[in-house]
Amino acid sequence: MSIALITQVVTPHITHEVIGAYRRILSEVSDKLIELGWHRSLLLLLIEFLNVSCNIKHDRGRNTCGRVRDAEAELLDMTAAITGTTLAGEGKGVDAMSNSDLILETKGLTKKFRGGYANRDIAIHVKRNSIYGLLGPNGSGKSTFLKQVTGLLKPTEGEICFHGHPWERKDLKKIGALIESPAIYPNLTARENMEVYRLLYGLENSEGKLKIDELLETVGLIGAGNKPVKNYSTGMKQRLGLAVALLNSPELLILDEPANGLDPIGIEELRHLISSMPKEGITVVLSSHILREVALVSTHIGILSSGRLRYESEIKPGEDLERIFMDAIRGNPAV
Ligand SMILES: Nc1ncnc2c1ncn2[C@@H]1O[C@H](COP(=O)(O)OP(=O)(O)OP(=O)(O)O)[C@@H](O)[C@H]1O
Ligand SMILES: [Mg+2]
Repeated sequence: MSIALITQVVTPHITHEVIGAYRRILSEVSDKLIELGWHRSLLLLLIEFLNVSCNIKHDRGRNTCGRVRDAEAELLDMTAAITGTTLAGEGKGVDAMSNSDLILETKGLTKKFRGGYANRDIAIHVKRNSIYGLLGPNGSGKSTFLKQVTGLLKPTEGEICFHGHPWERKDLKKIGALIESPAIYPNLTARENMEVYRLLYGLENSEGKLKIDELLETVGLIGAGNKPVKNYSTGMKQRLGLAVALLNSPELLILDEPANGLDPIGIEELRHLISSMPKEGITVVLSSHILREVALVSTHIGILSSGRLRYESEIKPGEDLERIFMDAIRGNPAV
């Protein structure tokens, strides 16, 4: 019986991700095993596959954060032990990484509105201390995705994993977000707005005040901190939104089109600020429909088109991102 046939027979109940991972492993080692007459080893691999499959089947209906990747890692270890062959994990275009490397992961994330799907079956992998650029044309589902992972929109289906566990509302304490227009009170000054958020986050008075000054300085608003926000320009409001998003010292910063309304100097400063985040222990996910904006700061990119994730990878030096972007949004199967 061929390997493909065996895997089809034993896999009707498990997730397609595990099937994919295991098929890949088996196909890479099976020729070598058969050539060497290692039928016993092949059998062991299949038995182990069945074990893992059954465990996952047993867990169906529960959140599977990290489980598929853990299963793949387990299978790779076991394959290496039996065959002496070392194989790399796949991870859908993102480098092989254990579950503990990921700060944010989604599986099958879907949002359906009355008019149809805003996004569908999104599987995103955000590595800790990376800068992840989420690219896509207008209406491709970027804001919807970012709202789902920040609890502003309830997913219709799918899972969100934060630090390898199922996302909970209390995780928002570790997530800062600036999505579409920032939630600020127009009649209050920037400093007063920051005070409101300081109280909301339960930051100590002295620590919070220092942090507010530091952040207003960072986003270039220290001179305008006592001016009512209704008199701010779009770019100034955007800067204040960024300061608010950083007030809680987040581990994950989500920025939806952060360059909106910023002047060229503001964009340059923002780039500088975002680039400095990973060494402060902050992972950034930012969205944009402009490739250049994302390519200049990001370490990884994901490309959405018509609500689907078409591409996800680490950015490699010399890569033709423009071609990749255009192919992804045109639905070129080569991507
Ligand atoms: N509340 C809603 N009700 C119905 N449809 C919605 C809603 N919000 C978003 N959509 C639809 O979902 C799709 C994705 O919208 P989304 O705002 O996520 O795209 P986007 O990639 O952020 O676009 P842009 O670059 O213009 O900001 C669009 O077709 C949009 O019309
Ligand atoms: Mg948007």
